Amino acid sequence: SADPLAFYPHFRAGADGLTLATPAKLNLFLEIVRKRPDGYHDLESLMVAVELYDTLELRAVPGGAVELRCEPDTLGSGPDNLVHKAAAALRAVAGRPDLGAHIRLTKRIPTQAGMGGGSSDAAAALVGLNEIWKLGLTREQLVAIAASIGSDVAFFLALPAAWCTGRGEITAPEPPPRRALDFVLVLPPVGVSTPAVFKRLVVPVGPVGGDRLRAAFRAGDPAAVGAALFNRLEPAAFGAEPLVGRLRTRLAELHPAPCGALMSGSGSTVFAVCRDRSHALEVAAAFRNSRPADEPESRVLIVRGVAL
Ligand code: C5P
Repeated sequence: SADPLAFYPHFRAGADGLTLATPAKLNLFLEIVRKRPDGYHDLESLMVAVELYDTLELRAVPGGAVELRCEPDTLGSGPDNLVHKAAAALRAVAGRPDLGAHIRLTKRIPTQAGMGGGSSDAAAALVGLNEIWKLGLTREQLVAIAASIGSDVAFFLALPAAWCTGRGEITAPEPPPRRALDFVLVLPPVGVSTPAVFKRLVVPVGPVGGDRLRAAFRAGDPAAVGAALFNRLEPAAFGAEPLVGRLRTRLAELHPAPCGALMSGSGSTVFAVCRDRSHALEVAAAFRNSRPADEPESRVLIVRGVAL
């Protein structure tokens, strides 16, 4: 479709602006195919959006300044915030340094968590600013800008599920399942730096394929999805932050057992796939109740995959 808002499912137009709900993602499969001459890694990943959202409120203002307020402000609303990078890239491509905006970002997706929070905010900023600034850029043009901001940004223009290749920026829509999956998220009190994980990574000689996971996902079969979960970045991330490995093991070995457990992205979030909402409630309660005394407390959330 020509209208980018038509493929961005979570927005509300108000009297003087636009509000977008920006979803988090989980990687149900992530394999590294090769290290590239430019230092990045070619990968293959199934990414799915989940019902955990930041909120991005956008209002066009005259005067050419882009102001970002972030709540809570622990993340920082400075120039490193990917929302600023999205706004700057959009103005540069459009050749319109005169465009200004007031932006309010309410964070709920944790940072350094492997859930793409910053990337999702940036993608929504591209869609939303294109709209309020009346630039008329197509989805394809926004996708090209997205890839220049970060490897995961383009996925959030391919919601709710996509098979991602290249650095992660080449997306093919994945048919959504007949029934949305139910997840338990474990959010450790520590984050993990993505470059640190890639530095520790041992690139596999024989990469594994994602066909089994993709078939299970399409069928909406939680048991089969749980059995086919895979993330090549786990050993590197567990080496960088041993707590993440401990949490992943404890989640996988719980009673009642989830269908499967995995780390998302480069961590630190680990998640369990459950049969349904009531199974997820049981798994979450069992996880909270079996925490060893020497293990720092994590946030535990129950979320459902986004279905269109
Ligand atoms: O693209 P992005 O800025 O999100 O990537 C952050 C870092 O993660 C890169 O600088 C690189 O070290 C690593 N990375 C990688 N291969 C990818 C994606 C990220 O090596 N496909």
